[in-house]
Amino acid sequence: MCEDDLFCGINKAKSENVDEMADLEKKHTPVIEAPSKVKKGEPFEVYVEVGKYMKHPNENAHYIEWIELFSGDTFLARVDLVPKLTEPKVKFVAALDHSHPLVAKVRCNMHGLWESFPIEVELED
Ligand SMILES: [Fe+2]
Repeated sequence: MCEDDLFCGINKAKSENVDEMADLEKKHTPVIEAPSKVKKGEPFEVYVEVGKYMKHPNENAHYIEWIELFSGDTFLARVDLVPKLTEPKVKFVAALDHSHPLVAKVRCNMHGLWESFPIEVELED
């Protein structure tokens, strides 16, 4: 198992409750905002932010390299970031045919991969 190796596997906060998160979890857990209900096949906006609970550094030696969005296991989109000039806060536009939870994955150059908690989006015909 990965044990305490942040670069082994994917990291995830142990609790969804911010008050129970360690600072490392607060800084790296991506937070998704999306409508709870959307029309099948119609575009809707999905916001993903890293550092919402506690600001993550954004400098050459330590920054969020990219943010990816998935619908279940299906890859939807990716944004590559650079230190200082861009912030790890992005908007995606998705239009889904199948209902799976949205999940964001991000990579910090110093602390490895991190995954959001899933967000349910109900599709209406
Ligand atoms: Fe980090």
